[in-house]
Amino acid sequence: MADTTLMDKLVSLCKRRGFVFQSSEIYGGLGSVWDYGPLGVALKRNVKDRWWNSMVHVRDDIEGLDAAILMHPKVWEASGHVAGFTDPLVDCRQCKNRFRADDARIKGTPGQPDAQCPVCGTRGSLTEPRMFNLMFKTFMGPVEDSASVVYLRPETAQGIYVNYLNVLQSSRQRIPFGIAQIGKAFRNEITPGNFIFRTREFEQMEMQFFVEPGTDAEWFEQWRNWRMEWHLSLGLDPAKLQWHQHAGSELAHYARTAFDIQYQFPFGWQEIEGIHNRGDFDLGRHQEYSGKKLEYFDQGRNQRYLPYIVETSAGADRVTLTLLVDAYREEQVEGETRVVLGLHPALAPIKAGVFPLVKKDGMPELATTLYHELRRHFSCFYDDSGAIGRRYRRMDEAGTPFGITVDGDTVTGRSVTVRHRDSMQQERVGLDQVAGYVKEKLGAVSWELGATSK
Ligand code: GAP
Repeated sequence: MADTTLMDKLVSLCKRRGFVFQSSEIYGGLGSVWDYGPLGVALKRNVKDRWWNSMVHVRDDIEGLDAAILMHPKVWEASGHVAGFTDPLVDCRQCKNRFRADDARIKGTPGQPDAQCPVCGTRGSLTEPRMFNLMFKTFMGPVEDSASVVYLRPETAQGIYVNYLNVLQSSRQRIPFGIAQIGKAFRNEITPGNFIFRTREFEQMEMQFFVEPGTDAEWFEQWRNWRMEWHLSLGLDPAKLQWHQHAGSELAHYARTAFDIQYQFPFGWQEIEGIHNRGDFDLGRHQEYSGKKLEYFDQGRNQRYLPYIVETSAGADRVTLTLLVDAYREEQVEGETRVVLGLHPALAPIKAGVFPLVKKDGMPELATTLYHELRRHFSCFYDDSGAIGRRYRRMDEAGTPFGITVDGDTVTGRSVTVRHRDSMQQERVGLDQVAGYVKEKLGAVSWELGATSK
């Protein structure tokens, strides 16, 4: 399958099955903003729950936080985002389009007569590059002036830094310890695209680990290992995951060392998570800009210091896209193409489909009762429309690992057929045992798998 087709097919499946829709579609959509439908929201929630579980629930050295999106504007001066979170852009005076200055489609040097606009083809119409800040700006309160400017946060990390002493003191943690947060971030990306890979509104799953200076390199390596383990636990193809170390020129202004976990997407190897050694850059800057001491007091040693920070920063939307890409496959079955999302059962939005074979002979009644019983244990979908083969196919596309069919033998012998998504094998299970059967199968692929070992 050609790679571009794979993305097209995935986008279409996501719409058809209710994973992801274009935002404001009836108005023609909004550039690089997407909405999650019933299955998408369930899948992304499973990703986030799994991350939260591995970071906060199973560890006693990481606390959770949910900081506000809007923060004091000085935060973004201190963080370096006002001055440095910029991309060089050029405008075409002719067609009014705007491009990144390093856009490979531009021929010639922007600002010079030889430069050619990649859209309208006019020569000499491109301006000199100008720096463009990627933060979304808005105003707080009734007056729209420079004194009331606030920003939509471009990363969740800063909410953690400015709360680090609050969390430390209220939770009575000691260094080394971490703070984890999941939340929306916004970037006015100039070259967004590739579906939900790079969007202007997205969710981050970030954890900041505060350590004693000098121990940071060791913690950094530890977190690198744990984060790769976590991605592997999602069932991703190990051959499609790799490390990419940032060279000096690539390093963000706050980072001393940075490694990305990359996945091999149809459009190339791309970052899904960044692990950064941020040193004391952030706490140092917030201490300077706020005038408040942010040092940690080590009672045992009677010493004060500004902790170093090891950050793990993953995109919930990117991980969701990675799962969809990794899971998508097509097979030929009896002369027809079967599309399957082979999602890890623990992540699948629907765990079981429940189907009466036909709409008569007491089957719908038994199937409905079973469906309501199973819903108490895991997410289910009831479907009585169309041929049974079509219903199985719809569930295959949704990534549902089990299909449970109520048939004539259910009425007479109180057993159902359980069909397995990947092998398409079917087996008979007692009507009263089916909840336990599916739960046991789901349990065998343990939720705890995603927990970082410590
Ligand atoms: N606090 C550090 C930070 O924000 P980053 O490398 O800019 O680092 C971290 O972003 C992660 O956030 C990325 O690995 C990616 O998964 C996600 N991310 C960043 N920009 C994104 C965008 N425009 N759309 C979707 N996800 C994005």
